[in-house]
Formats: sequence, C-alpha cells, structure tokens
Amino acid sequence: MQTNDKSGVTEYLASSKRYETMTYNRTGKSGVLLPAISLGLWHNFGFIDNIQNGRDILRCAFDHGMTHFDLANNYGPPYGSAEENFGTILKKDFRSYRDELFIASKAGYDMWPGPYGDFGSRKYLMASIDQSLKRMGLDYVDIFYHHRPDPNTPLEETMGALADIVRQGKALYVGISNYEHEDTGKAAEILKRLNVPFILHQARYSMFDRWVEGGLLNTLEQNGVGCIAFSPLAQGLLTDKYLNGIPKDSRAAKDLTYLNVEDVNSHIEKVQLLAKVAKERGQKLSQMAIAWILRQPQVASVLIGASSSNQLKENLKALNNLKFTSDELELINKIIS
Ligand SMILES: NC(=O)c1ccc[n+]([C@@H]2O[C@H](COP(=O)([O-])OP(=O)(O)OC[C@H]3O[C@@H](n4cnc5c(N)ncnc54)[C@H](OP(=O)(O)O)[C@@H]3O)[C@@H](O)[C@H]2O)c1
Repeated sequence: MQTNDKSGVTEYLASSKRYETMTYNRTGKSGVLLPAISLGLWHNFGFIDNIQNGRDILRCAFDHGMTHFDLANNYGPPYGSAEENFGTILKKDFRSYRDELFIASKAGYDMWPGPYGDFGSRKYLMASIDQSLKRMGLDYVDIFYHHRPDPNTPLEETMGALADIVRQGKALYVGISNYEHEDTGKAAEILKRLNVPFILHQARYSMFDRWVEGGLLNTLEQNGVGCIAFSPLAQGLLTDKYLNGIPKDSRAAKDLTYLNVEDVNSHIEKVQLLAKVAKERGQKLSQMAIAWILRQPQVASVLIGASSSNQLKENLKALNNLKFTSDELELINKIIS
C-alpha cells in the first residue's frame, strides 16, 4: 500500500491485511515460523537493476505476508549491491517493521580478492557478517548461513565461526546451504555441542532437481532442522514463461546465470506436459511447482525469485491449492523422471 505525504514523497504503509492469506510453517523443531513462500534477492536487486522495481516487489511481498527476505554477501551484480539496495529500501519502507521481518544473509562463495574472501574460514565469515550488516544498515540478521561446503577447512572451524557470530549478537540463528547429507549430520552434531540454534538448510529443490530426496530431507528431520527450498521454479523454467519461445527480457535470454537457452530447449517438452497437468488442476505451472515442493513435511518454506510484483502475486496463489491426488503425483513423476 502507498500513500503520499505532504511533501509528495511516496510513503509506505503495509497492508493491514498482510497476515490474512499467508500460511506459516515451523522450521524443524525451532520456535521460528516462516511464510510458506519466501522472497530471494539473488537477481533483480543489484545495481544493474531498477531499484524502484525491487522496491515494488518487496512492498508487494510484505503486503502479502512474506516476512522472510533472503540475501547473501555476493548477490548483485556487482557483489554486495543487493544488500546495499535492500538496506536503502529497508531504511525508507521497512524500518518500523523490522521485528516483523526475518532477514537472512550468507557467506561462502567468492566475495573479495585474495585468500580470505571465499569458502569457509573463520577469517572470511567473521569479516563478511560485519560487511553485510553494514551494507544493510542492520544490527543483526535473523539467520546467517554458511553458503556452501568447504572441502579444505575443518567443519569445526566453520561451525565455530557461526557459533561466535550468534554469541556476538550478529545473528539469531544459523543455517547451512548446499551441504550433502553426511556433512549436514556432522554440522548438526557440532552445532548442538556448541549450543547454537541450527534451524535451516537451504537447498536447491524443484521438479527438475530432486537431489534432496536422496537422504538430505531425512537427515534434516532426524536433527530437527527445517529445509528452505531454493530455485523451486528452476529459475523460471517451471512457469509459463518459455512455453512459446524465449522472451528477450527473461533470465535464460540474459545468459547471466546457470539457466541458458540449451537448458530451456532440453526441458521444454516436459514443461509443456507439466503445464497441462497444472491446467487440469486449475493452476498455473509456477503455482503447481511451488505446491509440489510444499507437500514435503520437512520443507518449511519455498524460496522464490521474481522480476516483477505481478509474478509474485501469481506465485502466491499457489497457496490456494496445495493438495495433490495420487494420480496427479504419479503423472507428474512419470513426466519428470
Ligand atoms: N543458497 C544458494 O546457493 C542459492 C542459490 C540460488 C538461489 N538461492 C536463493 O533462492 C532465491 C530464488 O532463486 P531463483 O531466483 O533461482 O528462484 P526461482 O523462483 O526458481 O526463479 C525465479 C525466476 O523465475 C521467473 N519467474 C518467477 N515467477 C514467474 C512467473 N510467475 N512467471 C514467469 N516467470 C517467473 C523470473 O525470472 P525472469 O527474470 O526470467 O522473469 C524469476 O526471477 C534466490 O533469490 C536466492 O535467495 C540460494
């Protein structure tokens, strides 16, 4: 919702109905409830993007009960710019709503030159959290993740750094991302010993990438940790976007990331079949793709991206139909396997 103050500046007042339609799920065995659909700022929030569009998306998200915003030190481009833009918008629009928000950041990928700006050393993580807080203008983040496993740093060192970040009051909870199930179990043991609230594992999960079903979801359940599933739309493939070709302004056309024209071409037949199943259910493909992930009890939230508030509104309607018949699930399985 927007109102104009006397000076003509657009002031944001959150919708009074913001908690009426969202579903909130408990993350593992923690006290934290997350919206079933959360917003990620990996794309569309960097200095190369239109900040007013990003602001519209964030306002729309919060107006619909999306209380969880996911960032990382290297989101942009350039690196750091998504956090900086988010900080600017937060200051203007969301300062008075800080306690209604659950904000995440991460470190683990290449961030600054030299040996101390990548992977999982204590040196990197301790510096990175300070940089992230400064860019966003925050005293603390709600959750801080180690973004990817580091094969060369002892797990004790990385988990120890996460624990100290919590003890210093710079994060309330910790998480890990992209860890296989064996290392996730080990990380959970260390963090338990350190008495640190490890509540979320952030993992890629979509109809086109089901690796989490091979053990990770069970490990999370055994350890009382929730899953937050990223790229549930396979970066836009699992929407109506590519049904009639590759739009110029799409992620695949920009070729900035891991989704390219070949990926679209090699998946399009399956996408068309899945779109038909969604239609039979009275849904858009994006809505069915989100609902399909939310059927897993370990998944606390589905973490989507959006390049416009209209996409966001369309995706939020997934919550209107989360149930699948066994016939539908079988048909989907047949198409995607
Ligand atoms: N932990 C990690 O390693 C990791 C890795 C990747 C992502 N993430 C997190 O997960 C978040 C989501 O990732 P993602 O952006 O890849 O997720 P996604 O939801 O699979 O893809 C989002 C993209 O799909 C397109 N889209 C979304 N809704 C649409 C609709 N209704 N109709 C048509 N197109 C639609 C848009 O792309 P167009 O630009 O083409 O419109 C949008 O930017 C990220 O922002 C980040 O926070 C974490």
